[in-house]
Amino acid sequence: MKNLFADRMSKVPRSFVREILKVTENPDIISFAGGLPNPLSFPHNELAEASAFVLSNSSNKALQYSSTEGYKPLREYIANRYQLSGLDVSSDNILITNGSQQGLDLIGKIFLNRGDAVLIERPTYLAAIQAFGLYEPKFVSVPLLNDGVDLNILKNMVETFNPKIFYSVPNFQNPTGITYSLEKRKEIGKIFNKNRTIFVEDNPYGEIRFMGDDLPPVKKYLKRSILLGSFSKIVSPGMRLGWIVADNEIMNNLVTAKQASDLHSNFLSQMIVHRYLTDNDVEKHLNNIRKMYKIQRDCMITMIKKYFPSDVKYTRPEGGMFLWVTLHDGMSSMELFEIALDENVAFVPGEAFYSDDPELNTLRLNFSNSDVKKIEEGIKRLGNSIKMLELKM
Ligand SMILES: Cc1ncc(COP(=O)(O)O)c(C=O)c1O
Repeated sequence: MKNLFADRMSKVPRSFVREILKVTENPDIISFAGGLPNPLSFPHNELAEASAFVLSNSSNKALQYSSTEGYKPLREYIANRYQLSGLDVSSDNILITNGSQQGLDLIGKIFLNRGDAVLIERPTYLAAIQAFGLYEPKFVSVPLLNDGVDLNILKNMVETFNPKIFYSVPNFQNPTGITYSLEKRKEIGKIFNKNRTIFVEDNPYGEIRFMGDDLPPVKKYLKRSILLGSFSKIVSPGMRLGWIVADNEIMNNLVTAKQASDLHSNFLSQMIVHRYLTDNDVEKHLNNIRKMYKIQRDCMITMIKKYFPSDVKYTRPEGGMFLWVTLHDGMSSMELFEIALDENVAFVPGEAFYSDDPELNTLRLNFSNSDVKKIEEGIKRLGNSIKMLELKM
């Protein structure tokens, strides 16, 4: 059976996060492992109303095949939101996808030949390594500093490898929670406007800023780029809706690739989400999510200060759903994972987020999907687990 599968399948890692999610289905385990939004943030009643409205008033349309590009009013809504924030985006440049995850796959499909260089952040979003990995590129990674990627290394890598794309999550990155500073956004514009590399800006968390000031998308400083957005973290991931913003030439290729993949995204979902967005106070909804996640993030940081050894480092994200912990040199977060699981607490060991040469003493903690009681207890257990690991060393 083994040699029936395409070579590319042996090169793509299984998602460690999805594997861990299976373990953490046990209700006794406090899990900071998954990347799930808090279900309390879902607009349950409003989506029920929007669904009833669409099915009672437009069911012929909603249940029928439709255009690959997506539901025009939804694309217009998205374009309008960008315009209000000062970005010149038209609905013609928006393709609705099955979450931004499909956007990553389509980008891989239209750009990558085997062996092409793809620049990624170090660490990066695991499922981007999977999505691009299926097209067998050569990954080259650029370290992330506290205010975004290391620009000197980035320049060097761009010159040396002439990559087709640079994949980046500039706001509240998954896994680190790091956000690019304004200066870095501008500098990146200067670097990429001089060469062929396309900056792929994945922004599923941008709307969930709960501290500090909003920053313009890197797209603002680029002549050519691809921007990805998603309704997963602001409405519901189960609806599987995201989008890609790209110029006409890229858009034409994306549409062809999407036709081959799935004809179009779930049209019923698109109409429901559009109805929900137009009938409700979306700003109020977003503010509620921001408030909730800030409380959870603050609680996690307070508990880390209280229960972790003082030499453990951690990021202090201003938005999003994750923070990144660095244990002291020589410690293994994989070993910690085993100990922590015995204590009924879970996280994702950092090595899952590297394409090569992982930093073994790192780990990702999710704060969006646990209430403050669970965060208090879970971080206490994790602190004890770290101390147990230290004693073993
Ligand atoms: C950085 C990043 N990109 C893309 C995705 C995929 O999101 P979706 O396909 O639900 O829009 C995620 C999900 O966690 C993510 O963290």
